Order: sequence, then structure tokens, then C-alpha cells
Amino acid sequence: MQDNTIGRGKTSYGDPGFSSFIRRAFSRHMGFDEKDFAKPVIGICNTYSEVNRCHTHFGPIVEAVKRGVLMAGGIPLEFPTISLGEVYTSPTAMLYRNLAAMDTEEMIRAQPLDGVVLLAGCDKTTPAQLMGAASADIPAIMVTGGPMLNGEYEGKTLGACTDCRFYWQEYRAERISDRELEEINQALAPSAGHCMVMGSASTMAACAEALGMMLPGAAAIPAPDNRRLRIAEESGRQIVQLVKDSIKPSDILTYEAFENAIRVLQAVGGSTNAVIHLNAIAGRLGIDLPLELFDVLGRETPFLANLRPAGNYQMEDFFHAGGVPAVMSELSDMLHLSCMTVAGKTLGEHLKTFTRPRHKTYRDIIATLENPLHASGGIAVLTGNLAPNGAVIKPKAASPHLLKHIGRAVVFDSVDDMEARIDDPDLDVRPDDVLVLRNAGPVGAPGMPEAGMIPIPKKLLAQGIRDMVRISDCRMSGTAFGTVVLHAAPEAAVGGPLALVENGDRIELDVQARILQLLVPEEELQKRRGNWQPKMEKETRGYIRLYQEHVLQADKGCDFDFLRPDVHTNK
Ligand code: FES
Repeated sequence: MQDNTIGRGKTSYGDPGFSSFIRRAFSRHMGFDEKDFAKPVIGICNTYSEVNRCHTHFGPIVEAVKRGVLMAGGIPLEFPTISLGEVYTSPTAMLYRNLAAMDTEEMIRAQPLDGVVLLAGCDKTTPAQLMGAASADIPAIMVTGGPMLNGEYEGKTLGACTDCRFYWQEYRAERISDRELEEINQALAPSAGHCMVMGSASTMAACAEALGMMLPGAAAIPAPDNRRLRIAEESGRQIVQLVKDSIKPSDILTYEAFENAIRVLQAVGGSTNAVIHLNAIAGRLGIDLPLELFDVLGRETPFLANLRPAGNYQMEDFFHAGGVPAVMSELSDMLHLSCMTVAGKTLGEHLKTFTRPRHKTYRDIIATLENPLHASGGIAVLTGNLAPNGAVIKPKAASPHLLKHIGRAVVFDSVDDMEARIDDPDLDVRPDDVLVLRNAGPVGAPGMPEAGMIPIPKKLLAQGIRDMVRISDCRMSGTAFGTVVLHAAPEAAVGGPLALVENGDRIELDVQARILQLLVPEEELQKRRGNWQPKMEKETRGYIRLYQEHVLQADKGCDFDFLRPDVHTNK
């Protein structure tokens, strides 16, 4: 009897022969025949959950993947991992991304799998699975659930959740009625799939494809489009081939592949969250992606995709315009074309066979290299005495007149403090002030919630104000917009300089010069530093304790220190 069976694996009871014997018996119990035992076993790592709306349509996708695996001669075995839905997970899905990544890694490693198909969708599941798969390093291919179809209200396209935020702000400003708000609410999420603007879910799907971990063209296919089922089936077939060819994530996720992904991120105006996630995925392989790299590549990479929240179109339109392959073919002179992909071909080989859809409408959605929407990419990195280790901003989703600004700080000490006071009629706040939110970073919140798009105070909304400079050590949704500086590192809760800001201090933002500066003399800051006391109460037990003790700062991807080989080895 072969030992290369579903019953194989390192687990033994001090007797490898007995281990194989008992596993074969248990495999037979599941209905497998002896002749199946030598076939490649493909795990389907499924993040489906009824509590995760963005994954509720995974059933047919799983079936399609299984069909592909079976047709290629493998054995598909589905298993669940933690599911993180952005909207329903408290206090923030980001708090559990690392837990999901550990779950994925350990379950891939523990089970007798030859390869794995990663099924992800909502924001955090995609990076979590890529992190886990990078560490487990057996052949892996990603299939995402795809974006929702466009919504529609009164002749206008609706997009979750850019329009969730936009219309909520209009409601707060008393520009739309309860009835209109309810009608919009009914139309915001019209189909299965993840958010359909270039938010974090769409961005991470695009990055997964650009990294080479997803079949070409897969990222943008709308969730209800049957081409998603076909690419799922194709992914099932391809994972069996990857096992035969022994192509592993470490063969695909090279430094050059990350440069490609950063360029795509910049060209599509993707979510700032991708800066954190790409860093975390790369870190699992000991690859360092300093924030300056994002900025350098962003300055060189033209902005091509006219997608909300920074542009006018949505993922369904992006798909019809050619999706990620169309962007990569425009950028091809800037990309590392020799990078291997899960299709078993190099990026260059794919792009050679790709033809962009020809209709000129598509040029409005994905611009050409010769005539880009903007000369530089969608994310800029700022530094200065307020964020010595960096902060990020999306200049194209900001108000141009605020990109160079000096204003008076209005400080909120926590998310709770901000929620309690932001609409207080007595709050001393003016339109040209800078709203500062602190103690909302990875350790402080904990979990770095998406609270960075601080609401404009109601009394200023009533004056017609729709944007202000906002600075925090937390994140914002990729679907959000405004002149919002995020991820200030180190964060306030660990003594970062945001902790030293006082109401009335002047803050300078100059995006062109990449400056974020607290205009307070250094001697005064020294004095404040000497008086600073941590405000945060640390958790004493469980996962949150582990999180607070080991999470890295935003510029290092917020992974746990002990999961990165470089950080771990340096200790
Ligand atoms: Fe899941 Fe937006 S809530 S992608």
C-alpha cells in the first residue's frame, strides 16, 4: 500500500505505519477508494460565513473549484477558516486579520494537503489568506468572490460604500430626507459580491492578481457574472498543475512581484489599506517594503484607472474595460515581466497574448500610458515630526485646496471621545482647522479601526463644509474619501508624536513636499514628551492581549512580530 495517500502526513503515533493505516481507514469512511489515494489532495480554504455578507455567494464558486480539481485529477477537500466581514465585525475586522492568517497558515500546514485554493472576498480575508499561504508555502492559488454589480438611484450610479458615506454625510447636513436615505439604503448593495468601488476588497483582489497569485483577469469579474464560475473552475484545474510543477507561493511572491503590485495599486488609485497588507504579506517571506518604496514607485507610476472613490466608474465598468490585465499591459514597460504567476507562465507571457477591449469608452475607464489621468499614482507617503515613520494619504481622493494647508489642531483622544464631541455645538472648531484623532492605532484602539475619515462636525456641514484636513493613527475604508492622513507611525498609544499634540497647535500638511509637521518648537515637544503617560489600558487575557503585545506598527504591516522571519530572527 502506497504511503502517498490522504492518509499521509507527519502525524504519527510513534509508528508511521500505523498512522498511515488509520488514516486510510478514515479516508475510506469518507468514501474514497484506494485508487484515489495517490491523487493530489487540494484543500479549498473557504472563508464563507452567513455573517459575512460579502461571502454569502461562495457555494457555487466552491462547486466550480471542486469541478476543476476533479477534472484535473485531484481530490478537492473543502475546509473552513475564520471569516471576516468588514461591516459586521466589531470593533474592526482588522483586529482579527492576523488571527485569520494564523488560522489559514496552521490549517494548511496541519492537514495532509498538496495544494490549496484560497477563497476570499471581503477586505481582510484576502490579505489574511495570502499571509497564511505565504508562510505555509505549499502550492496555492487565490479565487476571490468578485465585486457587486453597480447600484442605481434616480439615474445615478451607486457604489458601496463610497455612497454609504457620501449620502450619510448629506443626510447629516440635512440635504436629503429620511425617505431618500431609506431609498438609497435599499439600492446600495444590489447583488452578491464585495464592495464595487476600488475599495480595499477590490484593491486587494487587484493586488493578488498583480502579485501573480490569481489567474489573469480574475480580480474584476463581477460576482454574479458566470465568468467568475468559469475562472473558479479553471483555478481548480490549475492548482493541480501547480502541485505537479511544484510552484509555491515563495516562487511567485518575490520582491519584484511586490513592486509590480505596488505599481498596480498606484495606477488604480487603490486603498491605503493595501500599503499595510502588502507589507504584511511580504514580511511573511522576509521581504521588506519600506514606505518610501511606495512613494518612489507612486511618483513614477501614472494614475490610469478612473475608479471611485478617486474617479467616476466602478468595478463592473473596470471589468468590461479589461481589468487588471489592461492596467498591467499599459504599465508593462515598468513591470518585472519575468515574474512567475499561478497560471504557470510569466507575467510577460500573459501580457503578450492580452488584447485590450477596443471601444473608446474604455479609454475613459482605463487611460493609456501616453495620456494618463494623472502623472503620478494614487497614494503618497508623508513624513515629518508628526509621523517620523510615515503616514499615508490619497491625494486624488482629497480636496486640491487642502493639499497644502496649515491649520489649528482640534484633538480627539480616542474614537469614543471623537464620537462624543464631534457634533457638540460648543466644540471650538473652524473650517480651516485640522481634526486630529489619536489612540486609534494598532495597539491603542486596538486593531486600527477605519475611523480615519473623521465626520465633519455638523455645525460645519450646515455651513456647506464637506472636507477638512484630518490626521490619525488609524485607517480609513478604501471606499472613503477626503483630505485624510492615515497610519501616522509610531502611533500615539506607544508614545508616537501624535500623543503630544494639543488643541490649538498648528499643523502643516504639504502633500507635494510630502511633509506632515507639528509646528511646535522641539524644546516644547521634549517637555511634553517628558510628561507623557500612556492612557491605554491593556487587555490582560486572550487574543487581544497577544495582539497588543506583538502587533507591529502600520509601517511594518501590523503583523505579529513573531510571524515575520526577519523580526523574529533579529530578537
Ligand atoms: Fe465586504 Fe465592503 S463590506 S468588501
